[in-house]
Amino acid sequence: MAVIIDGKKIASEIKEELKQKIELLKTKYNKIPGLVTILVGDNPASQSYVNSKVKACSEIGMNSMLERHDDKISQNDLLRIINKYNNDNRFHGILVQLPLPKNINEDTVIESIDPRKDVDGFHPVNVGNLVIGKDTFYPCTPYGIFELFKRYSIDPKGKHVVVAGRSNIVGKPVANILLQKKEGANAVVTVCHSAAKDLSVYTKQADILIAAIGKPNFIKENMVKEGVVVIDVGINRIEDKTKAKGYRIVGDVDFENVSRKASFITPVPGGVGLMTVAMLMKNTLEAFERIESQKN
Ligand code: GUN
Repeated sequence: MAVIIDGKKIASEIKEELKQKIELLKTKYNKIPGLVTILVGDNPASQSYVNSKVKACSEIGMNSMLERHDDKISQNDLLRIINKYNNDNRFHGILVQLPLPKNINEDTVIESIDPRKDVDGFHPVNVGNLVIGKDTFYPCTPYGIFELFKRYSIDPKGKHVVVAGRSNIVGKPVANILLQKKEGANAVVTVCHSAAKDLSVYTKQADILIAAIGKPNFIKENMVKEGVVVIDVGINRIEDKTKAKGYRIVGDVDFENVSRKASFITPVPGGVGLMTVAMLMKNTLEAFERIESQKN
C-alpha cells in the first residue's frame, strides 16, 4: 500500500512559512506583496480556482485584488488593464486565469504581462529561461510537484520520469525542469500524450509517473509497475447525484487500484491542486523581493 502524499498538509506548512516571511519583509520594505487576479467570463472551475487564490492571499497576509470581467470584454481593453497593473507598484504578481474566451488571443495576453510580474511563469521570456536552466518563475503546478518530492525525500535523479500530457501549464514545464542537471531534478524524462497508440507502453516504464492528461481515472493498475511514484495532476469533475453540488472531483488516476501498487501517490483532491495555490503565493513573494530589492 502506497504512502499517500499529503498535499493539504504540505501546502498549509508552506503558507505558514510564507506568512512569517511576509511579516519580516513588511518591516524591511514597509510594504507587503500584492497579487492581482484577472478572471474573464464565468467558467465554474475557473471561478473556484480564483476564489482559492484570493483566499490564500488573505490567509498569509498578502494584498490581493480580483478583477472580474464578463466575456464581452475586448482584447484591447484587457491589454489596457494588464498594462495598468504592470505599472502599479502595489502589485508584484499578475495572474490572468486561463482559459480565456475565444475572441481573445491567450498568447497576446500572456506576452503583455511584465515578465517580472508573471508569477504563473507563462511568459515566453520566463519559459525560455526555464528551458535553458536560468533562474526564473517555475509554473505553479510543476513547482508544487517539486516541493512535494523535496518534502517526501523523493529524488528524481537518474530515475525514469514519464510525463503523460504536454500542456504548456504542466506537461512541458515539468518535463523541462526534470531534465535540468540540478538538485531535485536530473531525471531521464519521457513525455507521452494523446497521439500515442498505446499510452501504457510508456507509463509502464515509469519509476515516477506524472499524469496530466485531463481524463478521469484513466491510469489503471495494469498501466504502472510495482513501486511506482504517482503524481496525479488531474482535476476532473464527474457527475455524482449523491453530492450536493451534483458532481465530485477525481484525478487522472484510478486511485483505489493504483495505490495498491504504488510506493507513493497523491490523492485528488488533497494532493497537487492545493500545492499549486501555495506555490503561486511563493512566486508572488519571490516577485516582491526581486522587484523591491532592485528599487534600493
Ligand atoms: N488555468 C488552469 N491552471 C491555471 C494556472 O495555473 N494559471 C492560470 N493563470 N490559469 C490556469
